Amino acid sequence: MSFAVIINHDLFKKKWLQALRQAAPELPIAAFPDIASPEKVTFLLVWRPPAGVFSRFSNLQCIASAGAGVDHIFRAGPVPENVSITRVVDEQLTRDMGLYLAGQVIAYARDFYTYLRAQQQRHWRPRMYKRTDDLTVGIMGLGVLGIHAAEVLHQLGFKVRGWSRTPKSWPHIQTFAGDEQLPAFLQDTHILINLLPLTEQTRGILSNELFAMLPDGAYLINAARGAHLVEKDLLTALDSGKLTGACLDVFCEEPLPNDHPFWERESIIITPHVASITQPERVAPQIIDNYYRLQKGQPLLHTVDRQRGY
Ligand code: NAP
Ligand code: GLV
Repeated sequence: MSFAVIINHDLFKKKWLQALRQAAPELPIAAFPDIASPEKVTFLLVWRPPAGVFSRFSNLQCIASAGAGVDHIFRAGPVPENVSITRVVDEQLTRDMGLYLAGQVIAYARDFYTYLRAQQQRHWRPRMYKRTDDLTVGIMGLGVLGIHAAEVLHQLGFKVRGWSRTPKSWPHIQTFAGDEQLPAFLQDTHILINLLPLTEQTRGILSNELFAMLPDGAYLINAARGAHLVEKDLLTALDSGKLTGACLDVFCEEPLPNDHPFWERESIIITPHVASITQPERVAPQIIDNYYRLQKGQPLLHTVDRQRGY
C-alpha cells in the first residue's frame, strides 16, 4: 500500500506535504507528477486533479478530497466502482464558513459595501438599514456547513429557513425539502445562501427560473460552487431588479477572468474562493487516520455516497 497526493496548487501542495509528513513521519508520501510507481498507490489525496489521471493508478482503493466538496473528483473521473471517496469534515472549516456568511449577511443588511463606495467619493449618504427581524435568510443545503451557518444566523437574530433533499427537523430553522417545497422555501427568502454540493441535480440551479420564485429585490450569496449559478441569468436578474445584489465566492472559471462582466458590477461582491479554506495541519490527521483504516479494513471516515454525488 502506498500514499500519494495530487494537489493542483503549488502553495497548498507544499503545505499538505508538510502537514502529512508531520502527522505520519513513518509514511513515504509521493507527490504528483513525481510518482515513481503509480501501480503501488492505494490511497490518493487530491484537490482538482487533472482529467483522466485516476486511470494511471491500477490498485487505487481510496480517493480523499482535500476539501469538503468532491465535484472535482467526479470531474476528473471516471472513478472505478471499487474505489472509496472521502471528503473533509472539520469544525474549523465549518466555523469559518459560518463567519464568512455572517459577515456577508451583515454587510448587506447594514449597507457596508454601499458606504465603502460612498466614502471613496466623499459622499455622506445615510440610509435606513435593514433590521435582523425584517430579514429571512434561506439556506440551500442543510448539511455540515448549512446547519452551522443557520445556527449562527439565528443567534444573530435573523429568521432562518433551510432547504435540503430529504426532510430535516432542526430547532429555530423552518425546514423545506425536495423540489415540491422549493417554491415555498423561496417565496419569503430575502437573502438566499447557496451551500449545496455540485451534482447533476444542482448544477445551474441558481437560474432565472429559481430567481423568479424569490421576492423582488432579494440578495444572493453563493459560497458553494460556481457552476451552481447560470452567470448570464444573474446579470438579467440584477438588471431587472429581481435581485438587488449578489456576493459570489465561487465562479465557473477560477480565477475569474480579467474581462468577466462581474468585475464591473457594483452590485456584485467578489471574493476569490476564500469563504472557508481547509487547514492542512488541522486536517492531515483525519486523512492519515483514513489511510490506516483502509489498511486495516476498517470503515472510513466521511465517505461520499457516489450515487448521490456528495
Ligand atoms: P453536505 O454536508 O454534504 O451537505 C449537503 C446538503 O445539500 C445536504 O443537506 C443535502 O441534503 C443538500 N442537497 C444535496 N443535493 C440536493 C438537492 N438536489 N436538493 C436539495 N438539497 C440537496 O455538504 P457541506 O459539507 O455542507 O458542503 C456543501 C458544499 O459547500 C460543498 O460541496 C462545497 O462545494 C462547498 N464549499 C465551499 C467552500 C468555499 O470556500 N467556498 C468551502 C467548503 C465547502 P440532504 O441533507 O437531504 O442529503
Ligand atoms: C472548498 O471549496 C471546499 O470544498 O472545501
